Amino acid sequence: MELVRRWWKGGDARLGAAELADAAGLAVLHADSFRRGWSEEEFARLLIDRNIIADVAMVGEALAGFVMSRCAVEEAEILSVAVAPGRRGRGIAGRLLAVHLGRLAAAGIERVFLEVDQDNAPGRRLYAAAGFREVGRRPGYYARPGGPPAVALVLRRDLA
Ligand SMILES: CC(C)(COP(=O)(O)OP(=O)(O)OC[C@H]1O[C@@H](n2cnc3c(N)ncnc32)[C@H](O)[C@@H]1OP(=O)(O)O)[C@@H](O)C(=O)NCCC(=O)NCCS
Repeated sequence: MELVRRWWKGGDARLGAAELADAAGLAVLHADSFRRGWSEEEFARLLIDRNIIADVAMVGEALAGFVMSRCAVEEAEILSVAVAPGRRGRGIAGRLLAVHLGRLAAAGIERVFLEVDQDNAPGRRLYAAAGFREVGRRPGYYARPGGPPAVALVLRRDLA
């Protein structure tokens, strides 16, 4: 295990591999971004899983964003991406995703998949800008209180 986390510069953020000590901060960030939050224990379990690759963005000492993927042989699925509400729209997710895709490629991943709510405009722009293309649709995938369930778009990006 690396003793010192290596950081890349990403605008006003530092980008680096997530560590077990990030679990509590990730749970807070996730709860701020999604209707169903993941607990600190769930993040801790994911962070020690050898098939999980996760990266974080820090602004000063504050966790500003993360992206997490599960790898299986040469394929990966992006499980979640989020940026703290007050820090959105400044390119943090775009830079984080670029670093993350580079780490997946270095780990031997050739294809990356994810699902995104058809109505999630920022998410769709983020993935389109990172070179993801639609390869499928899952109707009725995301439950929505007070309305019909939303369509999930299945996106794919091949890593050269
Ligand atoms: C999706 C999310 C991670 C984007 O983070 P971010 O740091 O604000 O994204 P960036 O600033 O890097 O912008 C990425 C793209 O989204 C666009 N975007 C950002 N905010 C937007 C908004 N409110 N509406 C429309 N597009 C938006 C940007 O213009 C950019 O597209 P471009 O490169 O074509 O200009 C963030 O909005 C978030 O955490 N949302 C809640 C969780 C979520 O929906 N995650 C994704 C699904 S798993």
